[in-house]
Amino acid sequence: MDNKVIDPWKGTEIKDYKRIMAEFGIEDMSKLVDQLPVKNPYFFRGVIFGHKDFKVILDAVKNKKPFVMMTGLMPSGRFHIGHKIIADLMVYFQELGAECYICVADIESYLTRNISLEEGRNVAIEEYLLNYIASGLKPSKTRFYFQSEGSKNYMNLSKFIAGRTTFNELKAIYGDLTPQKIVSAFTQVADILHPQLKENGGPKPVVVPVGVDQLPHLNLCRDIAGRMREYKFVSPSAIFTKLIPGLKGIHTKMSSSDPDSAIFLTDDERTVENKIKKYAFSGGQASLEEHRKKGGNPDVDVSFQYLKLLFEPDDKKLDKIYNDYKSGKLLTSELKEILIEKINKFLKIHRANREKAKKMLDKFIIKN
Ligand code: TRP
Repeated sequence: MDNKVIDPWKGTEIKDYKRIMAEFGIEDMSKLVDQLPVKNPYFFRGVIFGHKDFKVILDAVKNKKPFVMMTGLMPSGRFHIGHKIIADLMVYFQELGAECYICVADIESYLTRNISLEEGRNVAIEEYLLNYIASGLKPSKTRFYFQSEGSKNYMNLSKFIAGRTTFNELKAIYGDLTPQKIVSAFTQVADILHPQLKENGGPKPVVVPVGVDQLPHLNLCRDIAGRMREYKFVSPSAIFTKLIPGLKGIHTKMSSSDPDSAIFLTDDERTVENKIKKYAFSGGQASLEEHRKKGGNPDVDVSFQYLKLLFEPDDKKLDKIYNDYKSGKLLTSELKEILIEKINKFLKIHRANREKAKKMLDKFIIKN
């Protein structure tokens, strides 16, 4: 297949982010981070590496204008520490004033993964929504909805989109097409645009945080938004997040279907400890003597990467760990201990928050 095509349903592996950025017109986030009104490590540590039109969002924040953060989830699999980024970003943008739209992609998972609407609903609530609420999502600024249950105008929008594109355009964007993929794509375009419908307060900036695999949908959406002149849509902005690597190496995937590759937010203390000790790929040397002499390589060490990307927000502390590991002062077992302690401390609080979240579910699930 044409290597210019990213397949959002296959999870294309991205090796060269620089090339993808150049090829698909993604701007470098590092040029904008100084303008963030509230600092956030995800923007500084390379987790959010690129964007499209993020300046529009920064301007809305600065001028205290309404804006939306829009995201969608595939209701399949268990919630792991990689999913935590999106949860934290929801809370971050809400604090900056955003209203948060969260879409359960139950139509998409029904069509492309054979998941029944009922199963999708349960997974979305038990695995995703509970963890989002436990992370600090506010009900007053959240609209949590299912693709199968959106409003009439949302449903119509997802169909009217068909009149603003062509089969050739879709083929150029997605490569191989099926009816299921086309309906999923149109539904996602409607997801991203509908916060700007009149019933939702009209045109306004919308930011969509996504992995690069979702880029085709975003490009299609931005093109179609411009063609639906009568709606006066503001072209949606996007920020792009890198995938968190799996336990077994920085070039492996963290996958819900392989428990040895992932730390789940429901893992208990022992499980976290065992997984990290047993599976987390180490950049250390084979023997203690060699490690003391040559030092470790934090850049390929998964435990260090988790601290950097997710669990150690303090730059000074992180730098010290980096330097100590590199010089051989800090051993692999000690580095792993630091990470285990950090994760278990976080999970202890998160577990308690999850229990509280169970009592709050009603505040988030809108009955139509
Ligand atoms: N396709 C997305 C995924 O596979 C889910 C999704 C549906 C979505 N609608 C969305 C993501 C709107 C962002 C915005 O995860």
